[in-house]
Amino acid sequence: MSGFPDDFIADLRWLKAWPSILRSPWRQPYLAGLTFGETLRLVNEFVTGQRLKILDVGCGRGWLSLELSREGHYVLGLDSDPVMIEVARRSMESDPEKTERGSLEHVVSDFSSWKHPVSTFDLIIFSRVLHHVPKPESAVKQAHSLLRPGGRIICVEHAYDQFDRRGATWFYHVRRTLEHAGWYSSEKRLSENADASITEIMEEWFEPARKEHFNRFDDMVKPLRKWFLERSLSWEPYIYWDILTDMYVPDAEAENAVARSVYAMERALVDTGAISPVLFCFVGDKEAGWSRTS
Ligand SMILES: C[S@@+](CC[C@H](N)C(=O)[O-])C[C@H]1O[C@@H](n2cnc3c(N)ncnc32)[C@H](O)[C@@H]1O
Repeated sequence: MSGFPDDFIADLRWLKAWPSILRSPWRQPYLAGLTFGETLRLVNEFVTGQRLKILDVGCGRGWLSLELSREGHYVLGLDSDPVMIEVARRSMESDPEKTERGSLEHVVSDFSSWKHPVSTFDLIIFSRVLHHVPKPESAVKQAHSLLRPGGRIICVEHAYDQFDRRGATWFYHVRRTLEHAGWYSSEKRLSENADASITEIMEEWFEPARKEHFNRFDDMVKPLRKWFLERSLSWEPYIYWDILTDMYVPDAEAENAVARSVYAMERALVDTGAISPVLFCFVGDKEAGWSRTS
């Protein structure tokens, strides 16, 4: 990802095209809507109650915190990267609806070393963060102690290890189609040999996890199930994020249509169990009167 201008605003309600941005859905309003907008829709299904005290762990550019504050909640966005928090604060400041929303604050901190009174939040959200955290069990336990009894955790997380040859095969065919049209910009062009190319796609997929620490699905879901009463676990499309990242269709209307159809294809493949999904949404509640100490 690169080319974010100094005045970039991460605001789903006031989207515009940012032509200098490369390899990020923020470059076009319809791509941001189809990725971050879908995450917002998913999270919102499980945000019940009004004027909740919400912690958005690893809030990144703050788009989710901003939306939740607009729904009247009191939101704190936390991220260890000061550059991300700078964008989040700029987006908050430029919000045309700022006089009508709930409170919104940001803090730069690593979650594991962040000190805050326990039992204070109604809702804690991890959106594509827990898979990066070196000790997921400690982070989940910390979230548990920060929540009030009856409070909720929502985790929308990348489970990279669930990717398999079926997903890679679908990825290959979509990518090949886009390459034929001249609409896919990757360093390497795939070959006609489908088998070899699918193996190459799998290698590319697992490469980031070899270079830096990524938690596997089990590393995340086991502590979530240990510390929280599971309310829901759903699987969601996510491979399309990678496809849209490298897809460039010169005509915006056509790009929007192709992006929607790639998303719809993955949705159908996930829902029918034809491919193994790589994004899950776990929702759990902290039991009232909870007494676990270990
Ligand atoms: C993939 S981004 C997701 C951002 C945002 N939640 C979203 O869904 O768009 C991961 C974010 O988590 C932050 N992060 C990773 N580990 C963290 C930690 N231990 N404490 C706080 N933030 C962390 C990174 O700085 C980054 O902004």
